[in-house]
Amino acid sequence: MSNPELTLQNVVFGYKNGGRLFNGLNVTVRGGQLLLVYGPNGSGKSTLLKLMAGLLKPQAGAVLLNGTFVSNRHFSKIGYVMQRAEDQFFCETVFDEVAFSAKNFGFHDVDELVKEALAEVGLRDDVLDRSPFQLSEGEARRVAIACALVHKPLLLLLDEPLIGLDRIGRQMVQDILKRQKQAGKIIVVTSHRSDNLRDLADVFLTL
Ligand SMILES: Nc1ncnc2c1ncn2[C@@H]1O[C@H](COP(=O)(O)OP(=O)(O)O)[C@@H](O)[C@H]1O
Ligand SMILES: [Mg+2]
Repeated sequence: MSNPELTLQNVVFGYKNGGRLFNGLNVTVRGGQLLLVYGPNGSGKSTLLKLMAGLLKPQAGAVLLNGTFVSNRHFSKIGYVMQRAEDQFFCETVFDEVAFSAKNFGFHDVDELVKEALAEVGLRDDVLDRSPFQLSEGEARRVAIACALVHKPLLLLLDEPLIGLDRIGRQMVQDILKRQKQAGKIIVVTSHRSDNLRDLADVFLTL
């Protein structure tokens, strides 16, 4: 298979009752690359990730994954980590939370996939019985990333993944991103400040 590719072509988007956020945005990021979307609060970073995730539709232009319009048919190929982990959690245990996508997309070896995802983010099995709402900020972020990795997506979208973390937590997330890049994933991260993610980035987009 040829190298996977996410392309935005002349993307136009604005919310109802708001101004136009994007007026013809163009960018391409390929497998093994990291796109850093940089911009101040309110510049549209989270909105752009939702467009890439197929959760919002552009009013003109196209968001293409391997040449086809991103839609709900692609959900199994996409892993999306929200800005605040607690906004994406809805289960009683970390196991159920991480297992959700694997089950939802019909994988059979769910226990094995959950273990792999946990190992990938450097968490031990004893976190599985805990409530996702009672984790430290660093643990919660890593569980949220495990949720996005468990079904082995092609495209990984992470909204401000370093925010609120201490130095060790930031390093852990950066190491995860580095490994996912090496594994050939397409990675998009947002940031509102010039932080260490710059070192990992191959493509830059400033909003
Ligand atoms: N669901 C929504 N409905 C209307 N306006 C929104 C919605 N979500 C975000 N906005 C507005 O769109 C702009 C960009 O928001 P957002 O994408 O969250 O920016 P960022 O993530 O860069 O802080 C802001 O002005 C915000 O108030
Ligand atoms: Mg945001």
